[in-house]
Amino acid sequence: MRNRLWRGVFYNLHFTIYNPMTRDRWGSKLGVILAVAGSAVGLGNFLRFPGIAAQNGGGAFMIPYFVCFFLLGLPLMWIEWTIGRYGGGFEHSAAPGIFHTMWQKNRFIKYFGVIGIFGPTVIFIYYTYIESWLLGYSFFALTGKYASCTDQAGMTSFLQGYQGLVHNEHFSGTQTAYLFFLITFALNILVVCVGLRGGIERVCKWGLLALVIMAIVIVVRVLTLGIPDAAKPDWNPIAGLGFLWNPQWDKLKDANVWLAAAGQIFFTLSVGFGVILTYASYLTKQDDVTLSGLTAATTNEVAEVILGGSIMIPAAFAFIGPVQMQTIVKQGLFDLGFVTMPLIFEKIVCGQYFAFMWFLLLFLAGLTSSISLAMPAIAFLEDEFNLTRREAAAVFGVVSFILTQPVIFFLGKGVLGEMDFWGTSVCLVVFATIEAVLFGWVFGMDRAWTEMHEGSDIRIPGVYRWIIKYITPLMLITILGMWAWQEWKNKMMMTDVSEADKPFILLTRIGLGGLFLFLLLMVWIVWKRRPETKENAQ
Ligand code: TRP
Repeated sequence: MRNRLWRGVFYNLHFTIYNPMTRDRWGSKLGVILAVAGSAVGLGNFLRFPGIAAQNGGGAFMIPYFVCFFLLGLPLMWIEWTIGRYGGGFEHSAAPGIFHTMWQKNRFIKYFGVIGIFGPTVIFIYYTYIESWLLGYSFFALTGKYASCTDQAGMTSFLQGYQGLVHNEHFSGTQTAYLFFLITFALNILVVCVGLRGGIERVCKWGLLALVIMAIVIVVRVLTLGIPDAAKPDWNPIAGLGFLWNPQWDKLKDANVWLAAAGQIFFTLSVGFGVILTYASYLTKQDDVTLSGLTAATTNEVAEVILGGSIMIPAAFAFIGPVQMQTIVKQGLFDLGFVTMPLIFEKIVCGQYFAFMWFLLLFLAGLTSSISLAMPAIAFLEDEFNLTRREAAAVFGVVSFILTQPVIFFLGKGVLGEMDFWGTSVCLVVFATIEAVLFGWVFGMDRAWTEMHEGSDIRIPGVYRWIIKYITPLMLITILGMWAWQEWKNKMMMTDVSEADKPFILLTRIGLGGLFLFLLLMVWIVWKRRPETKENAQ
């Protein structure tokens, strides 16, 4: 009897003392909101959004964009915060375990959760490399390294030299790019190692503050440019805003614009990937998810449409005009940011400082996103293999470092583009569909709604019960079907890949497939080793 009593006391002590100490927690409510907002605000807001909007005709894009925000983005944001917190209650921080707790009777659902580790890891691999270019460019802006390039062709060749695609007077290989990559990569791993409060929260708080200030300064400068070329009065920044904001109703019938809008909403909010699940898993039941999710999503949207929408498009309108802007944007999504913007800054007073701010703000936006991409894999290793944060970060660091090498050295062969396709389009739509169906149908809408409002600071309008249950999954399945219809055959047969690139693309696919299988195997091992799962023990 006495023995039992002592065991009980010990057990409780073990839970109250041991538990909170091993499981990392957020420092404050604002901290977790900023971390999620930091994940969301990224290159997508300042580079991808203006590019995609311009590709799709500006004003034609914005209505589908906002519809997708309210019907897809916001519901998924709430779903991910809620199920992440739920899974965290069972000490699971990554999708396999979280999905399993939601549908314990199903033996297979945990394997679908692998997408939620695979996707972010694949994105991390190429995203950190692009992020490092921005660090490089912010130095070049200050030191005047690209100052001798005064036209589109010159600046393009500078970028290609930096990337190691061509040898020219600026660069003779990838050494410089590699150096900036090493710094960026190390910084990412370091922040993650330090942990939630001291690392991620702190970096997101200061990073977001700094980037918003720099963005505001640049927006004010761009919008007060006036008419740089008196002979062309309609080339002015305000006309650029008009291009983005005047709706074009007739384009609403174009399905491709809708697909592009949905794709941008996922990408920019970081929903449908698995990262928000992990961040939310470190909350407790008393923590709010509804207002926090809404705040994070709103912050991202302000950064995107107000700040991101008022820099590249208005500046390009004023200096190169709408026609050339469209041409450049069709060539490559990043050309406007890496090629046109530095040229524009060369033409304004103190331009090098503005260019420095532009690249630094992009770098910070990238950093706060990439650390969140590393977290699902690291959390999985920690939770399911009982590694410490440092050990998990070390394993992740080594594996992702190795996998980045082909991205760097075979950039010209389309390896990065291929990873982007698998990481951001296919994976995310499949994953988002599973999440939405699990939440609204398997978990059950009544239970889901109660779970969502546990500890919450606001009540979500009742229509969202209906939207989450029917509209969001229906839209997701439609998108999946349309993508499969439009792209599947081309992708599989590699019809749009040149003969010379085919072996590289094939190897990339084999590599990605191998990574996916390896993750499946890890999940299998975890559940095999531990037939008595954490949820049964509770
Ligand atoms: N949202 C980020 C951006 O706007 C990029 C991104 C896409 C991302 N998917 C993600 C970030 C998943 C973190 C997790 O640039």
